[in-house]
Amino acid sequence: MSAVHRRVFLKQFAGGAIAAGGLLLTGSTALAVPSQQQKVDWFETINRVKDPKNKTHTERVHAPQIIFPSQVKPGVAMILSAKVGEQLHVMTPDHYIMWIEVYLDEEMVVRLELTPRAPQPVLTIPLTLTSNATLKILERCNLHGIWESSQSITLLAGE
Ligand SMILES: [Fe+2]
Repeated sequence: MSAVHRRVFLKQFAGGAIAAGGLLLTGSTALAVPSQQQKVDWFETINRVKDPKNKTHTERVHAPQIIFPSQVKPGVAMILSAKVGEQLHVMTPDHYIMWIEVYLDEEMVVRLELTPRAPQPVLTIPLTLTSNATLKILERCNLHGIWESSQSITLLAGE
């Protein structure tokens, strides 16, 4: 095998080994590839914060933030504010939030389409509940996939 072919082979093999995790063999040496170097496929599933007390940077800038009371009066409109990230996500032509969706249980209430021209990934609407529900916010980043946050909302007893 020529030096060029060997270099191409090693480059391709190393790329595959890093993507799959595990051992990288170079000559007679075996190197463990740390799991942190594994390539993450953000589009494989709906992403959620794994540990709320120890969020990663990616979780902090992508997980939707929900500002809405956990208890509401039935039929009374309350203002929902949903923003993407506790540190607001960037909105640049190369990296931006494409849309934000609001659901009550499985029913979509609103979908906001965004472009990089939108200054901030924020949505504010009045929301009325007539039964207990799970409020879900989903958003999609063009580079980091779909992210979801949710909050249970219960109705206050009638007055
Ligand atoms: Fe992103």
